[in-house]
Amino acid sequence: MKKRVAILISGGGSNMVALARDMDASHPAKAVLVLSNNPNAGGLAKATNMGIATAMVDHRPYKGDRAGFESDLHAALLKANPDIICLAGFMRILTPNFIEKWRGRMLNIHPSILPLFTGLHTHQRALDAGMVIHGCSVHQVTAELDGGPILGQAVIPVLAGDTADDLAKRLLPMEHRLYPAVLRKFADNDDMKVSLFS
Ligand code: GAR
Repeated sequence: MKKRVAILISGGGSNMVALARDMDASHPAKAVLVLSNNPNAGGLAKATNMGIATAMVDHRPYKGDRAGFESDLHAALLKANPDIICLAGFMRILTPNFIEKWRGRMLNIHPSILPLFTGLHTHQRALDAGMVIHGCSVHQVTAELDGGPILGQAVIPVLAGDTADDLAKRLLPMEHRLYPAVLRKFADNDDMKVSLFS
């Protein structure tokens, strides 16, 4: 029986597309829902075009009531009965209360070599730190922001003259290779970690 995967997005959803494309007949999991907190997320239409059910829980009307937002988010997820939740460019910080409900079943992709550069503006911070390599990490989600067990990482070189945009552009294709590779193993209960080098 295939595991059921819900993918949470806030924007263009290119990682969501990479995950969904990889979930072919041979895959141990299938995408059952793409959910966004942003009604304008470009990824929603992409999911619909791929035949995946979508849902939207706009965070804005909650006006900072995180518990209310997360309660509705949780209800929308429960309807799809997922075994695994993949955060893929989902730009809301989730509270420990919500995270606990999906403990051991929620993954995230973060655009840095964790534990370096948790949070935002990772590409610029890697440049500012004088890094000569940069990368992305897929990790389990725990109450600590970007701090859960690392399941896989991909690395790219920082080249002379690189801007934050250059790094973001060059890293994204590696994200698209890393996240599906990790999800396959995770859905298979294979705890071998994934490392990729450009
Ligand atoms: C990706 O680069 C992802 O690593 C990052 O947002 C982008 C989403 O792109 N995630 C974070 O920064 C999470 N803190 P996408 O919508 O095209 O997948």
